[in-house]
This record gives sequence, C-alpha cells and structure tokens, in this order.
Amino acid sequence: MTAEADSTGARGQANPPRPPLAEGDVARIRQDFPLLHTELRGGKPLVYLDNASTTQRPRAVVDAVDEYYLHHNANIHRGVHQLSQAATDAYERAREAVRRFVNAQLTGEIVFTRGTTESINLIAQTFGRTRIGPGDEVLVSEMEHHSNIVPWQMLCQERGARVRPIPVTDAGEISLEEYGRLFNEKTKLVAVIHVSNALGTVNPVKHMIDTAHAHGVPVVVDGAQSAAHLPVDVQDLDCDFYACSGHKMCGPTGIGVLYGKAEHLEAMPPYQGGGDMILSVSFGKTVYNTFPHKFEAGTPDIAGAIGLGAAVEYLESIGMEPIAAYERALTRYGTQLLASMDGVRLIGTAHDKAPVFSFCMACASPDAIGQVLDEEGIAVRTGHHCAQPLMERFHIPGTARASLAFYNTRQELDALAEALNRVKAAFP
Ligand code: ALA
Repeated sequence: MTAEADSTGARGQANPPRPPLAEGDVARIRQDFPLLHTELRGGKPLVYLDNASTTQRPRAVVDAVDEYYLHHNANIHRGVHQLSQAATDAYERAREAVRRFVNAQLTGEIVFTRGTTESINLIAQTFGRTRIGPGDEVLVSEMEHHSNIVPWQMLCQERGARVRPIPVTDAGEISLEEYGRLFNEKTKLVAVIHVSNALGTVNPVKHMIDTAHAHGVPVVVDGAQSAAHLPVDVQDLDCDFYACSGHKMCGPTGIGVLYGKAEHLEAMPPYQGGGDMILSVSFGKTVYNTFPHKFEAGTPDIAGAIGLGAAVEYLESIGMEPIAAYERALTRYGTQLLASMDGVRLIGTAHDKAPVFSFCMACASPDAIGQVLDEEGIAVRTGHHCAQPLMERFHIPGTARASLAFYNTRQELDALAEALNRVKAAFP
C-alpha cells in the first residue's frame, strides 16, 4: 500500500483517485441489501438510519455464511479430513482478507474476537496487566464508548492505577492541546475512538499516536465506527492496536477483529485458556501456541469470520475511498439540513465528521422523537449511546441519533427532516 494518509489515519486517494459514489451507484448497491426494501407501518418504506448500532448485510455476506453451513461445515485446525481442511482454509482466507483491508503487515497480526468490546478487554487483560502498575495512568477521551472506558477502569482498579479523561471541546473534538498536557512519566497507555459513535467526530488519531509515541506510550484505537466509513491503514497510522466489529461493517454479529503489532502479540500472555491456543499440554508444562492462535481459545465463530471476510471483500469491491467521499457529501448535506431547522440542536459539530447526526429538540425527549420517527418508518437510536461521560460533558441525558452508511441517500435525510417537522407538530 503506497497511498498516503492524513492525520486522521484515513488512507489518502490511491493513484488515480476513484470517484465518489454517484446516485446510480447507490441505487444499484441498495439492491444488494434485501432488508432495505422492507415496508413498515402499513407500507411506509424503511428508512434505516441506525448504522452506528449495526449495519445491514449484503446478500454476499449472508450467502457466504449459508455456503459454509450448508456445504463446508466442520471444525477448523483439528481434522485431516477434507471438510475440516476446507473450513480451515476459508477461515484463514478471511483472516487474510481482513489483513489486506486494514493493511496489516502480517496475517498473524489479525486476531478474531467476538467484537470490539472483546478486543479491548483482551488488550486490557493481557497487554494492560503486564504494563500497568500502581500510580500509572491510562488516557482515554471524554467521547469514548463505554467499551473503551470500563475495561480500563477495571484494570486500573485492580492495579491501583487511574484513568484520566482527555477533554472534548464544545464542537465535539478532542482538545489536542489538553491531550498533550496530560502526558507525564506515569502515562502508560492511550485508548481513543477513531470515529465517535455518538457524535460522528473523526479524530486525528494519527497525530495523537505520533504524540503518544514521542512519549514512548502505546495507543489502542477503537475502530468500531471507522472500519466501514474510512480507508484504514494500520501501518500508516502506526497504532499499536486497532479493534473493530463485523456487524458494524456489513458482516455478521458476534465476530470482531483485534489487530496488534507482532512485537506486542508475541510478548503478550494468552487471554483465555483452552483448545487451539496451545502447542502441547501436560500437568508438568503447557506450551502456548504462537499468535494469533494463542488468543483464539476454543472453537471460534467460523461462519462469522467467513462472513466478515465476505463483508470486507464487498466493501473493497465498492472502494473505501469512494465510500468515504460519498459519505462526506452526505454529512455536509445532512448538517446543512438539520442545522437550518428551528428547534433542532445538533450535538457534535466537528470539522471532520462521519455521517452521524446526534440532536436534541426543545419540544420532545429523544425517546419521544424516536417514537414519532418510528411511526414514519425511520429507524434511529435514542439515549446515551453507551457514552454517558460524553452526555454528561454536554449536560444532556441523551440524544436522538441518525447514523448513515454508504447505502443511504439524500432523499432519506429529507424524509428525516420532514418527520422532524411532524415531531414539532406532535409536541407544540
Ligand atoms: N455502539 C453501538 C452504538 O453506538 C451499539 O449504537
């Protein structure tokens, strides 16, 4: 991969740059997603704007999972029989597909987990436990998802260390000045979200990683919300770890990824004990397997990994640069539309954003907004979005959140705006 990346860690335009998706492309892409053609509430077309919770799956992913269960189902790494070998090959091909997708150097640097949450817990309980001691500090931003706060709190509580929040500005951006000031000799780790699930902010993680590395501090990137929206290049980012979830990138639920630099994975103790993570077991001495298998105890979600492999191939077939460019245009359109509506307050107005629109309305609570939108066939998430410290930062209990993907359209944003006028009419 020779493309250059900016400070957000998004890969730059390849040579020559691929154009953003056009409306016709999106109409064709939507044909790949049967669920998008659902009608609700007596014939209203589904407007699915809850992609930060979970994306929809294209037929290619469902077919890959079906194909495995119907024709190749067997356990992996265990049998000499043909089916087991076919299943092993398919599982390991999926690992290679993920490696290519995030541009890791080695296939073995990709560990399959249950999702971002498990990936971060794995790092905390292995890497973290060996590195963090009494008095040490872990930096996490105020905009982290609970899954990038609580595992560090649990670890710090056990080790007598502490979690220090990196402040967020009123626009919903990480204050880089204050971030720089938080480093001292006790700082042992930085854990930061690439794209905020609650605000859509695209954080300048490459810059943040450079700063941390200048202090000799490793960085964990929570990529749950970036993997399906930006081209990600873990080598260019130079992150120590990157975690993402299949179900937020058109893959199955229950499968996720932990990328770790080989030098870390090599040195880290195992996470869970069991089959497949060992080379030999005896009561006298057990020898662990090499990475990534050292971190994949027990029978994994084989079908999930194969489905995730199909998902990244599907995303690559469209192109992450065209997806990112299209979504930037959607973000601009949606921001202008919602910012111009009386009574709607956007929470999160960062300069660089993914298409996530979190908002409050003076006339109605987030839940009430969600209910009216649901009556119109529009699916959004309401509440604190597993980011309670961030809600506290903005002095609000929660928001209504419309989060888009590359298969969403301007017309769907127009439908959202129209439905918000209904909310105003319902709660005068
Ligand atoms: N993390 C997911 C969200 O933001 C569940 O909705």
